Amino acid sequence: MKSTMQSPLRDTHVIVFGGSSGIGLAAAAAAKARGAEITLVGRTRSRLEAAARTIGGARTAVADIGDKHAVEALFEAMTRVDHLVVTAGSFITGKLVDSDPDRLLAALHERIAGPVYAIKAALPLMPPTASIVLTSGQLADRPTGQGTSVIASAVRGVEALARSLALELKPVRVNVISPGFVDTPLFDVFDPENRAAILAQASATLPGGRIGYPEEVGDAIAFLLSNEYTNGEVLHVDGGGRFV
Ligand SMILES: NC(=O)c1ccc[n+]([C@@H]2O[C@H](COP(=O)([O-])OP(=O)(O)OC[C@H]3O[C@@H](n4cnc5c(N)ncnc54)[C@H](OP(=O)(O)O)[C@@H]3O)[C@@H](O)[C@H]2O)c1
Repeated sequence: MKSTMQSPLRDTHVIVFGGSSGIGLAAAAAAKARGAEITLVGRTRSRLEAAARTIGGARTAVADIGDKHAVEALFEAMTRVDHLVVTAGSFITGKLVDSDPDRLLAALHERIAGPVYAIKAALPLMPPTASIVLTSGQLADRPTGQGTSVIASAVRGVEALARSLALELKPVRVNVISPGFVDTPLFDVFDPENRAAILAQASATLPGGRIGYPEEVGDAIAFLLSNEYTNGEVLHVDGGGRFV
């Protein structure tokens, strides 16, 4: 029988694209609590430094995941990556009828090309026990009709990418976390009144009567990193939101 006494994350190096905020920061905190060394990656140095202080210390690196050369340079400076987590992503929305299609399609670059760049650059540094967690979202399963069609196709694509890579990159494991509504700075793109209204409406429709905490999703990501028999999985942490 396999021992469960020691965390599989102890003394591993976990790199989190999107680790300066919200779900990525919560995942970093959960992995650190299980003994991992953390590198946080995002586009804004000040947010990264504040996030590193929040979790009691982490390495930080500035890179846009959609910038292939920046991502390659980041991994050139590393010697080993045990686990790669990608939560990086902006909330690019707009109804096609009144939006510039190229602005909406930037979501595909950030959410498909970004993880592809990061995985390609990380692979030479990954041991056979390594794993990858990418991020999808409730939009993959539940259309809103509110200007989320292109970003929905991007996150659904993330799920297909992960399932295929779970075979292609074997024995490296590849999983996906699919959050529902979670209270994070992601919604700061809306003015405060709108933000509160959107999140209150989401809470009212959910079976549990509330939206999620980032820590609830961060713990689920730590599970995906730790459980060595979970592969090609899309783990929904959405309070049942995709069914209502
Ligand atoms: N919160 C929700 O309700 C919810 C629901 C479903 C899915 N999700 C997905 O979960 C993921 C995390 O969301 P969150 O709520 O934690 O959002 P968040 O609080 O806004 O955090 C996003 C993080 O990603 C970084 N980031 C954004 N674009 C980046 C890029 N191009 N390159 C590198 N870093 C980038 C941000 O830092 P910088 O901006 O400084 O780079 C930040 O650290 C996103 O993919 C989101 O779509 C969230």
